[in-house]
Amino acid sequence: MTNSRLTCMAAGVVAALTLSGCGAGNAVDGTQGEDVLRLALNQSEDHPSYVALEGFAEFLDESEEDLSLDVYPNEVLGAQAEVMQLVGEGVVDMAVVSGAQLENVNDDFIAFNVPRVFDDIDHQMDVVQDPAITGDLYSSLESSNGFTVLGGLTQGTRSIYTSFGAVETPEDMAGAKLRVQESDLNIAVADALGASATPMSFGELYTGLQAGVVDAAENNEVSYFTQSHYEVAPHWSMTEHLIGLDYVLINAERFDEMTAAQREVFLDGWELAWQEHTDLWTDDTEEAIEAAKADGAEFHEVDHEAFAEPLDAVAEDFITTDTQRELYEAAREEAP
Ligand code: GCU
Repeated sequence: MTNSRLTCMAAGVVAALTLSGCGAGNAVDGTQGEDVLRLALNQSEDHPSYVALEGFAEFLDESEEDLSLDVYPNEVLGAQAEVMQLVGEGVVDMAVVSGAQLENVNDDFIAFNVPRVFDDIDHQMDVVQDPAITGDLYSSLESSNGFTVLGGLTQGTRSIYTSFGAVETPEDMAGAKLRVQESDLNIAVADALGASATPMSFGELYTGLQAGVVDAAENNEVSYFTQSHYEVAPHWSMTEHLIGLDYVLINAERFDEMTAAQREVFLDGWELAWQEHTDLWTDDTEEAIEAAKADGAEFHEVDHEAFAEPLDAVAEDFITTDTQRELYEAAREEAP
């Protein structure tokens, strides 16, 4: 993105935040003096990330500290690539962004984004919430990009869905345009799945599928349902090609400025939030599958063997530096 476009975007976001009465030090209810953190999320209000982050907000409200959290869902503050920069600039205080975005600013994050690094969600959470494993990764962007990473929220297992029919092997994806998140690794994953990659932001995807700009996408069942993508791509094929990961970012200065007491409450609230998110995930996934089926989506089995070799090769190609290898191997050592 050009600087001028980003400046315009930032101005738009500032205007939106000001109009909604949410400037720093001025809470939604007009309370003067309270520290309000504005968090950008690209999911809807029925997604577990919104529910868990609202729980975080309630926890802060119930504490004695003057610190509160306002969650802005539905990509209203911008798509993830933009809000990541806005958090660095302090225009937005916090955001949920996918690991795909973080790998574009520090390729060490690739270690947790490749297929096969995590066996299941509990394994993923054991790794990404363990400072003995993550080391300096989460603070690595403080001076260069202006934000710090609090930790991860699972994206669950990602599979393919299409507008045109079931996918059993990579051959069934030949010639199909598959929307992917904007990163080199995701382009390689599309390749391994047999498709041709079209990087695109999450919020543009429904229209992209509807207009036939893309024929397919890949995500978890929860986003598939909560974004109503089944309406325009009713064939889900269980490739289960990777377990995705979102991260919660906070502007580094904002985090530094917290008093010791605020920081303690904040970190307690964050811990409750990711735990609640993990607890909600499995039930919400089952409910999303049932609800999508009831609305006409079809779920198909795939030939996992046919995808195995190309997906394994992605990790081999992308884990190349010493740091990536250390993180990847430390993650694999935690496998159940
Ligand atoms: C998941 C994830 C989002 C991400 C999206 C995508 O839904 O939780 O953070 O933006 O995938 O595919 O873009």
